[in-house]
Amino acid sequence: MLDRRSFLGSVAGAALLARTGRTTPAARPAALPARAVQGDDEAYWRTLRREFLIPADEAFFNTGTLGSPPRAVVQAVGDSVTQIAATIAHWDYKAGHPDYITGYEPEVGLRTKLAALIGATVDEVALTQNATAGMNYVANGLPLEPGHEVILTDQEHPGGRMGWELKSKRYGIYVKQVTVPIPPQNPQQLIDLYVNASTPQTRVWAIPHLTSALAVRFPVAAMCQVARQMGIFTTIDGAQCSGHLPLDMKALGCDAYFSSPHKWLLAPAGCGFLYVNGQQLPALWATLASATWDNYRAGAFRLMQIGTGNLSLLKGYEAAIDFHNAIGPARVEARIMALADRLRAGLQEIPQATIHSPTHPELTSGTVVWSLAGYTGEQLMDGLWTRARIRCRSMGDPWGVRQCCHIYTLADDVDRTLQTAREMARTTR
Ligand SMILES: Cc1ncc(COP(=O)(O)O)c(C=O)c1O
Repeated sequence: MLDRRSFLGSVAGAALLARTGRTTPAARPAALPARAVQGDDEAYWRTLRREFLIPADEAFFNTGTLGSPPRAVVQAVGDSVTQIAATIAHWDYKAGHPDYITGYEPEVGLRTKLAALIGATVDEVALTQNATAGMNYVANGLPLEPGHEVILTDQEHPGGRMGWELKSKRYGIYVKQVTVPIPPQNPQQLIDLYVNASTPQTRVWAIPHLTSALAVRFPVAAMCQVARQMGIFTTIDGAQCSGHLPLDMKALGCDAYFSSPHKWLLAPAGCGFLYVNGQQLPALWATLASATWDNYRAGAFRLMQIGTGNLSLLKGYEAAIDFHNAIGPARVEARIMALADRLRAGLQEIPQATIHSPTHPELTSGTVVWSLAGYTGEQLMDGLWTRARIRCRSMGDPWGVRQCCHIYTLADDVDRTLQTAREMARTTR
């Protein structure tokens, strides 16, 4: 277990690395088997909380929209912006001089770290702006013919769906939507939805790893295994998952996976990735074309042909991975799940509260969607903020609010939520 000094040492190291541009192997993840919020653990997380810029009296629970990067990440971006602005005249364009932009180089250092984090090879990982870009690269790039079917759910975020809709209108593929039960009772129910909807024309299963609005966690590994046996391509919308759940592409067995590390991985806004299994990569057409669009020896760099991009953002992206690794993905997940379990258990004790996200242990995550009788989603969101400085996001009615527990959440913040919910429940009577 890391104490404050060694943790801060590693974070300071990450910031230094971001400044110098040098990279070292990521810190080894520290496993945390138990899901309980332990006493000594709380002290560790309290210390860690000081690494975030969110004021101490505010509790932020909307990581599902955008995370709050830690100090080391903010500093890495700021330092890089300053350094580039100040020394731009030194950039002589000669071979060997570091570029001041991104978009034309394969960014092997960052992609190597990212690949290690998600259990992929560097050639299989493309840096993108976000999950939406990844979804579009897959939908646009896969060679499908009129009549071919793509199966997805009725709970897709537009950033997981619309590339398929576009392809349907333009090229005549058929997008088939399955209805997710609210809440689903077990993982098999979700597998059956896709299996039962499939026909000989089905070519793609587009699966949300964790849905945006109601936080349903899909049994991705089991579904990819079934799809593989049926000869169906799997593409996973993991926008909500990097930095939230430990990821291993080979264990998941998917063909493509895209995410937005500016959410749970706490990278700066505008940091995404797309993974494509090396066996499938040659079949995928590029969507944006610049110098290297058709160099098939370049791996997923072929899918990074964006023109001039923001190098400083990538410095923050790398610092976010270093920060995450310094804690350890398994420990992050255990903490997030322990807090969300605490929240779920507390809400179940409040008769006026209803949990709309799943409660089956294999379908849960760090996100809890819940409502309070007598309050609209917006009223509940506003009540939590004005009474207790707790920032959740309204999901509309009847779903109430979405509350994402993360490493900047303290057990006290969860308890304050429950206390405020009890007070609000009493007020409406
Ligand atoms: C499941 C899911 N997919 C896709 C997206 C789109 O993410 P981005 O806007 O970062 O591309 C989101 C955003 O909340 C999401 O929750």
